[in-house]
Amino acid sequence: TTSHLIALAVGYWLGSIPFGLLLTRLSGRGDIREIGSGNIGATNVLRTGSKGLAALTLLLDAAKGALAVMLAHRFWPEAVSYAAAGALVGHLYPVWLRFRGGKGVATLLGILIPLLPVAAAVYALVWIGLLLVIRISSVAGMAAAASAPVTAAIVGETALFPMLLGFALLIIWKHKDNIRRLAKGEEPRVGRKAK
Ligand code: G3P
Repeated sequence: TTSHLIALAVGYWLGSIPFGLLLTRLSGRGDIREIGSGNIGATNVLRTGSKGLAALTLLLDAAKGALAVMLAHRFWPEAVSYAAAGALVGHLYPVWLRFRGGKGVATLLGILIPLLPVAAAVYALVWIGLLLVIRISSVAGMAAAASAPVTAAIVGETALFPMLLGFALLIIWKHKDNIRRLAKGEEPRVGRKAK
């Protein structure tokens, strides 16, 4: 229906705003896609040397996901999952960047906060916990993403389970370069400058 299409489009439009790219460019730090991993996410913004910009990227990439879901809750309650899917796909595949977007870890956290708060809490704990222990952002991010469908299943949110499983698989797919680097033992740890 029309409301489903609108929720999907609004979600996509919000999700496709590349905050990491915009913030690094606006602050005169060049094109984030030519730095470190080339990713537009907070982890790579951190590699430019600015903790503040990285934190802001994380916050805004999460906020756009949360906003998409909250808007849908308010205006198109029957289409909340469309807004959620639009936001994640918009971040991963933004038309403005020829569909070369981010990896979705921050945006999925934002989506989960209003969608399924218990899953957001577990997600944040897994992410922060692993980041502190092993200090590899991609591993922490993929594990957090994988936790979302698991939490949904545990709390009996069977309606959300397939979509969250799809989200987790998409996010892991987007980390294929990281997985390649991990296999070769070349994935950088957070807190060390990229070569
Ligand atoms: O959230 C992105 C993170 O999981 C990996 O980022 O720059 O190390 O590829 P990066």
